[in-house]
Amino acid sequence: MKGLILSGGAGTRLRPITNTSAKQLVPVANKPILFYGLEAMREAGIDEVGIVVGDTHAEVEAAVGDGRRFGLRVTFIRQTAPLGLAHAVLIAEDYLGHEPFVMYLGDNLLKDGIVPFVEYFKSSAPDALILLQHVPDPQAYGVAEIVEGRVVRLVEKPAAPRSDLALVGVYLFTSKVFESVRAISPSARGELEITDAIQHMVDRGLQVEPRVVTGWWKDTGKLEDMLEANRLILGTLERDVRGETIDCSIEGPVAIEAGSRLTRCTVRGPVTIGHGCELTDAFVGPYTAIYHGVVVDHAEIEHSIILADSRISGLNARVCDSLIGKDVTICRAEGRPLAYRFMVGDSSRIGVV
Ligand code: TTP
Repeated sequence: MKGLILSGGAGTRLRPITNTSAKQLVPVANKPILFYGLEAMREAGIDEVGIVVGDTHAEVEAAVGDGRRFGLRVTFIRQTAPLGLAHAVLIAEDYLGHEPFVMYLGDNLLKDGIVPFVEYFKSSAPDALILLQHVPDPQAYGVAEIVEGRVVRLVEKPAAPRSDLALVGVYLFTSKVFESVRAISPSARGELEITDAIQHMVDRGLQVEPRVVTGWWKDTGKLEDMLEANRLILGTLERDVRGETIDCSIEGPVAIEAGSRLTRCTVRGPVTIGHGCELTDAFVGPYTAIYHGVVVDHAEIEHSIILADSRISGLNARVCDSLIGKDVTICRAEGRPLAYRFMVGDSSRIGVV
């Protein structure tokens, strides 16, 4: 069985982060989201993985390399435009050939991985297996209608959902899916929808089985979900302080990598801090992930993700519920007039007090 991870897309809901970077490489609990998917593949005994990449291909290719360090053989498949999940399957046909495969959306996280689904698929050999989860807001997802244990209908973001079962971003297919992705037409939003392809398989009388996922699942495509995924993963963190701490109070599950130095700080876990960070007279509150090379002084941060090489300094109010990109500076504006001074990218969001 092969793996197919989708790491292209437009990422419009995560602008401005995605103006310059792949959302799949945003670190959640200090590990790029995409790496969780690669590890899930390996854990399920899959060693050949194709990664569909788009405009951010160079960054994804540099981060993953040939896949060896994940125990995988990785092949990159270039999608020239984000024309939909089923389009990504279509362009991967040559790579996948006749083998069954697991398709995994590169911005999704599943707490319990994919092992039981892969094992079931191998032993029972249905034509497709779709994973579902009960959600409170099904109109935001692809939704499945199940009758007597069989999938009868799939609708993408329905206005009036007929069930609360959302499609989780992991699908298992045999090569019979290719006939269906070739048969469907683009939807109103101009994409080849995977829900339409699966519906086509159902309509052809193929065996499409549903499985409800019980552990948590997160699609990190927007800020709130990214922060929640960070919270869920940090919730399992164990204390591991390797960096230098001078006159600090380090409370609860806190990980600090070697090569970082904290002076006169209070860190209240769960918190993870990468290497090469310098924190001085700072408070870092629960559910914060600070990536490599970040500087924080005279500031407080909580429930946030800070990407590499950013600097946060001299703030009067706590930074909360935030995703701060790479090499960002947020500091006290000196001099007159007393004013906010911004240089902010397109589609940024700023909340001031
Ligand atoms: P989505 O989050 O559904 O789409 P998107 O990345 O374009 O984001 P937005 O809606 O905010 O603009 O995509 C799910 C995953 O699939 C994600 O990892 C990107 C990937 N993808 C592709 O690789 N090719 C595609 O054509 C699409 C639509 C998504």
